[in-house]
Amino acid sequence: MKITLKHLTKIFPNREKGKPDVVAVNDFDFSIPDGKLVSLLGPSGCGKSTALNLICGLEKPTKGQIFFDETDVTERSPRDRGVGMVFQSYALYPHLTVRKNIIYPLKNFKGDKKLTKEEMNRRAEEAAKLVQISELMERRPSELSGGQQQRVAIARALVKMPEVLLLDEPLSNLDARLRLQTREEIRRIQQETGITTIFVTHDQEEAMSISDIMVVMKSGTLHQMGEPQEIYDSPANLFVAKFLGTPPINVFEGRLEKGTVYIGNDAVLKIRKPGGGDFSDMPVYVGIRPEGFMPDAEGSFVAGLKALEVMGRDTSVVFTHDDTVSEVTRAIISSKKGLNTGDGVVRFSVLPEKLHIFDKETETRIPFEV
Ligand SMILES: Nc1ncnc2c1ncn2[C@@H]1O[C@H](COP(=O)(O)OP(=O)(O)OP(=O)(O)O)[C@@H](O)[C@H]1O
Ligand SMILES: [Mg+2]
Repeated sequence: MKITLKHLTKIFPNREKGKPDVVAVNDFDFSIPDGKLVSLLGPSGCGKSTALNLICGLEKPTKGQIFFDETDVTERSPRDRGVGMVFQSYALYPHLTVRKNIIYPLKNFKGDKKLTKEEMNRRAEEAAKLVQISELMERRPSELSGGQQQRVAIARALVKMPEVLLLDEPLSNLDARLRLQTREEIRRIQQETGITTIFVTHDQEEAMSISDIMVVMKSGTLHQMGEPQEIYDSPANLFVAKFLGTPPINVFEGRLEKGTVYIGNDAVLKIRKPGGGDFSDMPVYVGIRPEGFMPDAEGSFVAGLKALEVMGRDTSVVFTHDDTVSEVTRAIISSKKGLNTGDGVVRFSVLPEKLHIFDKETETRIPFEV
């Protein structure tokens, strides 16, 4: 099922005097292709849950429309949308067994959709098998681990055979290992069933690893939509660049001067406009990914060494620079070859594809060639 949002907007009126209304979702206008896993990614309060609630019908939009394939479902009740949803807190019924929890949504089917007891059981067992909890069917939620409860919630959303699956931070209550395992499982289930899935998270690494397409948002506004790698490699603006990647991108005050990117006195890279042509001189923000620094005794980027942290395969070089605007500046290097640390100074050359420049005013990325 393809999902299309047309100028979808949700404004929550403010109850306190003198304070502005909250635009939780601001003019969302895009399509989610059939059979894909799309994540909504953004910081807390940016409108992810609201967007999901609009799509499943729990919230009414202030403006705009929602289409499932070619059908306008904006006025349809949640029950009639054929959507499976796993909420941020995945509330299972504590007094019911796993089997009964999963069967529960099937009891709402009316008329010719009504199912027999045997059919409900069969469907519940199928859903349980998919999330690998078949042996837990007669237990109660309190007798399950967090990850198992999570899977029951997913089975309960899948049992209706929804055409759309909405997952609101479904892994937030799990420890790191279970998170990883469950997210791989969600990916597997999604690919096996081909259900169009929207996955909400504020964890960029989770979104990067699980999604076909990511929608990066902030304060109700879409900042960039695309494949994870494409967004990482070509962020639309400084916010997106900073939101993706661990450790985060290092940001410096810099300037363009005669076609050269300067950070302080360091001439880090010579660039041209895409397709040729010279840039005019201007102040910019320069972002350099931690993996973009190459130890180089002749390198033009000069920094003060603060600490070397060995992380197993790689080494993290924490350094200082007068023009940084990041809290911590850090390079991740795979080999210390060429890293001269004797005098407390480190020198790097910079990989052009890991360096981005941003307009100082608008903070949009300025594309370039080398
Ligand atoms: N019923 C409501 N009435 C008024 N404001 C609301 C309501 N629901 C949400 N908001 C506001 O809308 C904005 C978006 O909230 P939303 O729950 O969609 O964020 P979120 O991205 O899901 O955040 P989180 O990651 O913390 O779950 C927030 O500023 C929130 O305070
Ligand atoms: Mg939320």
